[in-house]
Amino acid sequence: MIKVIGITGSLRKHSYNTALLHAVAELMPEHAVLEIAAIRDIPLYNEDMETTEGIPQAVSLLQERIAVSDALLLATPEYNHSMPGVLKNAIDWLSRPPEQIQRVFSERPVAVIGATPGGFGTMLSQNAWLPVFRRLGMRPWFGEKIMLSKAHQVFNEDGKLQDEAVRKQLASFLAGFVAFVQKNRPDVAGE
Ligand SMILES: Cc1cc2nc3c(=O)[nH]c(=O)nc-3n(C[C@H](O)[C@H](O)[C@H](O)COP(=O)(O)O)c2cc1C
Repeated sequence: MIKVIGITGSLRKHSYNTALLHAVAELMPEHAVLEIAAIRDIPLYNEDMETTEGIPQAVSLLQERIAVSDALLLATPEYNHSMPGVLKNAIDWLSRPPEQIQRVFSERPVAVIGATPGGFGTMLSQNAWLPVFRRLGMRPWFGEKIMLSKAHQVFNEDGKLQDEAVRKQLASFLAGFVAFVQKNRPDVAGE
């Protein structure tokens, strides 16, 4: 069984990106599962806090969950043509102390998806993640794209994906990503 950890970059109750992750959980291929992880208990990064109090429990628990997973999937909003601060903050904490980068991120397959009510589907936010993945030594998958624009027309009021074409697109994306993960997950890569 392939286990993917999904993290949404929005704390909003009716977030389109969280709704997108819930749709992913439903549409994962049979031999794969998505576990959605929350970041709302992660404090703002402060090196003084790290020095005096160590790594917050919300961070170390999530580090462990990612370390035993096969891949990471980020559902990212776009804020001012880049990634949202809350999600970057979470990834920054997860990369501390630097020895954790190897265990948590290195060689781990990653994909990024996103939704916006706007017209450009989080394209700039998704691009903004690339140097972060490079720095962390991750293996981004570029096989297909999920850049949902006009998200208010794609989800209904209950956050359910109501657009059949998008559902098919998402299922195809997930099949491709999971196939990539199977070949590239940290424990089998290099065999
Ligand atoms: C500070 C801020 C900046 C934003 N900048 C962008 C942007 O550059 N591009 C875009 O498509 N949407 C932008 N938006 C709109 C977000 O895409 C929208 O709020 C979206 O619903 C956020 O994702 P969520 O539904 O998962 O919370 C911005 C929203 C905020 C609050």
